Amino acid sequence: MTTTQQPYGEDNFGFSTEQVHAGEIIDGDFGARITPIYLTAGFVFDSFDHAQARFAGEDGGLVYTRYANPTNTAVEAKLTALERGADSLLVSSGQAAITVALLGILQSGDHFLSTPSLYEGSKTLFRENFARLGIEVEFVDDPHDLAEWRRRVRPNTRAIYGETIPNPKNDLIDIELIGRFAREEGLPFVIDSTASTPYLIRPIEHGAHIVVHSASKFLSGHGASLAGVVVDGGTFDWSLYPAKFPQFSTPIGGPGSPTLVEKFGRTAYLEYTRTNIAGRFGPVLSPLNAFLLQQGLETLSLRVERHCRNALAVASWLEAQPEVSSVDYPGLSSNPSHALAVRYYPRGTGSVFGFTLRGGVDAARILIDSVELFSRMSHMGDVRSLILHPASTSHAHLTAEQRDALGIGPGLVRLSIGIEDEVDLLADLEAAFAALRLSQQAFAVGAWSPCAVGVLGELRV
Ligand SMILES: Cc1ncc(COP(=O)(O)O)c(C=O)c1O
Repeated sequence: MTTTQQPYGEDNFGFSTEQVHAGEIIDGDFGARITPIYLTAGFVFDSFDHAQARFAGEDGGLVYTRYANPTNTAVEAKLTALERGADSLLVSSGQAAITVALLGILQSGDHFLSTPSLYEGSKTLFRENFARLGIEVEFVDDPHDLAEWRRRVRPNTRAIYGETIPNPKNDLIDIELIGRFAREEGLPFVIDSTASTPYLIRPIEHGAHIVVHSASKFLSGHGASLAGVVVDGGTFDWSLYPAKFPQFSTPIGGPGSPTLVEKFGRTAYLEYTRTNIAGRFGPVLSPLNAFLLQQGLETLSLRVERHCRNALAVASWLEAQPEVSSVDYPGLSSNPSHALAVRYYPRGTGSVFGFTLRGGVDAARILIDSVELFSRMSHMGDVRSLILHPASTSHAHLTAEQRDALGIGPGLVRLSIGIEDEVDLLADLEAAFAALRLSQQAFAVGAWSPCAVGVLGELRV
């Protein structure tokens, strides 16, 4: 087995070249061009002594797929190059990536600060599951207010968390501002870049230390499998804070042995997270799913370009509809995050966004039941366009007041725009809006009934 030797990740190649070639393995036995799927639980040892050396980490070889597997390693190398990180770890889902990334830093009794606008699944994970582990999350009210960030730091604060393009409100954060604050306070800044991908932004270059993704979304694109990744920028110096992060500065094998930082340098965090967190809790990614992710990554830039172009066209069209009161897409010049979008996302601001219908939940129901090309589905970053009503699905467990505070009103509809032809997406929405208009007119003259809505649905054919 041989690997390609090009120095990827050192600005020698363009993004599209790296997404195809970085990390790839050319099989030395048969010359298979595509990195093979090494679907094996473990790896054979030549002898008693060989096994002992492997377990002692003396020859750097493989032991068991829960710790490392060649297919996964190849995809990790590709992601490390694309994010300009130091090393990466693949895990079984985005939720697993967030969990192991933070458990690599935090322990019981610790506190961490987060931006307020996040994927609801992350919030619930932090508020409920992390709380049960004795780890407390605190959401700042205004992520643009440095004084508030500073005010909320406690002696036991150990990390900062945020999202590049927050799901679903797209209220962008100023990554460099938060990165500077994290550096001043000696805290690692972990950022979920699922909605942006390294094609739109490389958060490490803007001051984030650790990047996580749900690779189930844009990175894969096909929607056929779940995956997650943790990318270590190698930019946080753990050795400066031995009291805050003792796991990196305690001799690994007892007194006299090296610490993780001494042994692994700038990848100490990733090594610890791979071996002591993911390796023990066990949310490993199957090499089969790593292979599927690899297939998706090879076309990432092409897809994301098309996603962004389609999303801007759909958002602009929606903004012009009288039934729509607002569109949460930072690519629109009317959006409050537009200045940050111009500064951080010159290639586009992704393709997941909400818009609010003046007609509330009734209008949302008719619209969602009327689309035909869009799939009614809880997912995003798929090549297919998707539609969802957050208030009755992903955010249904919250009270109406809690949803209002998050801007998740009864008329909010979330779209994930795919890579289909723009004209077809607009035609599907036009037809659904026509059905909505007809139903509202019927209601206005007292002729509305669920049956009438059914008839209106048939008008589309
Ligand atoms: C921003 C973000 N992060 C993480 C996740 C969780 O990812 P997964 O479904 O792969 O566990 C999601 C899921 O929608 C998400 O939107």
